[in-house]
Amino acid sequence: MSTPLRGNWNYPTTIWAGPGRIAELPDACARLAMKRPLIVTDEGLQDAPMIQRARNAVPDAALFSAVRGNPALSHVDAGLKVYRDGRHDGVIAFGGGSALDAGKAVAFMSGQTRPLWDFEDVGDWWTRADPAGIAPVVAVPTTAGTGSEVGRASVILNEETHQKKIIFHPQILPRIVILDADLTVGLPRGVTAATGIDAFVHCFEAFCAPGFHPLADGVALQGMRLIQQYLPRACADGKDIEARANMLAAAAMGATAFQKGLGGVHAIAHPVGSWFNTHHGLTNAVILPYVMTYNRRYIDEKSQIIARALNLPAHTYEAFLTWILQLRSDLGIPHALSQLGVTLDKAGIIGSEAAIDPSAGGNPVPVTAAQLEHIFRAAVEGRLEAVIGAP
Ligand SMILES: [Fe+2]
Repeated sequence: MSTPLRGNWNYPTTIWAGPGRIAELPDACARLAMKRPLIVTDEGLQDAPMIQRARNAVPDAALFSAVRGNPALSHVDAGLKVYRDGRHDGVIAFGGGSALDAGKAVAFMSGQTRPLWDFEDVGDWWTRADPAGIAPVVAVPTTAGTGSEVGRASVILNEETHQKKIIFHPQILPRIVILDADLTVGLPRGVTAATGIDAFVHCFEAFCAPGFHPLADGVALQGMRLIQQYLPRACADGKDIEARANMLAAAAMGATAFQKGLGGVHAIAHPVGSWFNTHHGLTNAVILPYVMTYNRRYIDEKSQIIARALNLPAHTYEAFLTWILQLRSDLGIPHALSQLGVTLDKAGIIGSEAAIDPSAGGNPVPVTAAQLEHIFRAAVEGRLEAVIGAP
């Protein structure tokens, strides 16, 4: 191995990267003066040996594991009750994106008096929060995709309206992140692929989002290079630690980059996940080429830069799209949303909800509800050729 897979980084937050570094979890808690942390994880991990080891390492920690995919307000409320009843002083958010988002939301809400939806990512609503009431978070991702560990938001489902809401505050950003590749070696190939492409979409949408943000652009471009190199390896051999470590880094890079913005892929994927309970990364992976095709005229130059960075056979949009389609099929990602059980009966709602999703604002060209519905319909039916490009 040419370079050691270990480093301490300080942007966008404190990150301790390296295989085996979960052993430093007690140090992270001590650094943040957390004496009685609450470990928030998801149902699937509650009996996992890694959670047991974390509990052994931090004996005064309690466990809350009633979190499912696409976490909802009810999960946050249940966690909040456990947090307050147990008089905890911080959160260890441990797991995939759902556990991280739920854990971050519990820590954020622990000292607030207003309801969660008052902190949706709208205008300056985040200033409504009492910063002194936000508990510290140590984030430990076990998938390499969402990058929620370095994100300043939690995506939480409103079960009454079936809408995913982005809850934003700068201090939702975890204070310490442990990127331990050993924790991701057991991830099944399908989850590795879906979450890995989610990270790619973060980098891609951030890079193509309008606005002046060269820092994000640089991070995004290198993130895409790492995913090109290491995602197929991580899928082929889950125990490839070099691939796993680089994918964890790439996932963190994607979420760092998307402070610049996301775009149409996420705008559509959010309501699809809310209505059909589909896996977020997998949904993005399916939708990506449809939105690329719609945005074609507006991402031509940026696609050339990406194609050059990825050293594709030609430095063109076409070569980039061809490579994406090949990568998707190599990784076993379906081509149509119908293959995930998504139907057309909510098409109108999905179009209108996608149009008001905060991610839509990052699309390279403004998109209307009707246009998003059109892209969604093509993605459900798997008809890439049916996408009419943006005027
Ligand atoms: Fe995502």
